[in-house]
Amino acid sequence: MNVMFKLSKIMLLTMFVFSIYFQHANAKKLVIAHRGASGYIPEHTFSGAVMAYALGADYLELDVVMTKDGHLIVMHDLTLDATTNVEDVFPGRKNKKAKYNVIDLNLNEIKLLKVHERSSRQTKDASFPSRFPIEAQIFEVPTLDEMILLVKGLSKSFGRNMGLYIELKAPEIHRKHKLDPAKTLLNLLKHHGYQDASDPIFIQSFDSETLKSLRFEHKTRLRLIQLIGENQWRLSATDFTYLKSKNGMKEVSQYADGIGPWMNQVVTGIDFSGKAQITDLIENARRHDLLIHPYTFRADRLPSYVSSFEELLNIFFNEVQIDGIFTDFPDLAVDYIKNNPRN
Ligand code: G3P
Ligand code: CA
Repeated sequence: MNVMFKLSKIMLLTMFVFSIYFQHANAKKLVIAHRGASGYIPEHTFSGAVMAYALGADYLELDVVMTKDGHLIVMHDLTLDATTNVEDVFPGRKNKKAKYNVIDLNLNEIKLLKVHERSSRQTKDASFPSRFPIEAQIFEVPTLDEMILLVKGLSKSFGRNMGLYIELKAPEIHRKHKLDPAKTLLNLLKHHGYQDASDPIFIQSFDSETLKSLRFEHKTRLRLIQLIGENQWRLSATDFTYLKSKNGMKEVSQYADGIGPWMNQVVTGIDFSGKAQITDLIENARRHDLLIHPYTFRADRLPSYVSSFEELLNIFFNEVQIDGIFTDFPDLAVDYIKNNPRN
């Protein structure tokens, strides 16, 4: 009797996981333009956002950090060195580590800078040599407020919505400087009318404490995504090894709507029969009905187990059945989904 009970419990659980799997398999896959259409136009620029819209992205990914005077600007790094001409504009304003922190400048000063294609912090060469020329320093640093106005403007003038997918970068470091990016973000989003789970927006963070605080203290109804990194990256005090476990995913499901794992945490390679080697993380996440949006899909930086971007997309969309991807090349993902409607 006991054995029968256990067996039927296992069967029920298996059916539940499969029903979630098929439900996700049939849902629309999201193309999230990573830092804009950053494969073509420098990351986190107005032009890159417009290009992402024109290429058909469903969501625009925006990393945000705060200036000294408390404005949210759209930038990936906490320092300005790799993507702006800060060294030319403010010689002598470096910090002790010979870097320029965003947090040491106010918004008026940031607006004097020009953004260029990402460079290597060590060599200053282009990080992605085949992309937009690094010499062209023709873009300004957008505030998040400006970027939201741009996206809402495009939605109105073209009649298609592109959602926002905003990452709070290093909230703990901001808090040490007496800045509260999470609260500032919620206030700005409320001002622009984003308040509900049905609104076209996600907030993402690597820091689980910040997401819990958004959900339980600020009581936001907006959808939240727990980004998953590796502990050795030292992105946050969050224990990613624990989060990836069964218990960890259960905990995540209590405050977040989904996860944003590193693509190598989802698929580790291809076996001898050509089948993708999918990690337990996927089953752990599906068990709790979490959305899965892995990062970052780049046509010019493929994992070694594939020989084309299409092959990579096929593994993730068709075999793993993820719900969306962060990509620098939104057009290629949009085309893939259009040409493979069953995925
Ligand atoms: O936010 C998803 C992905 O963008 C995380 O990596 O370093 O590009 O912000 P990163
Ligand atoms: Ca990001």
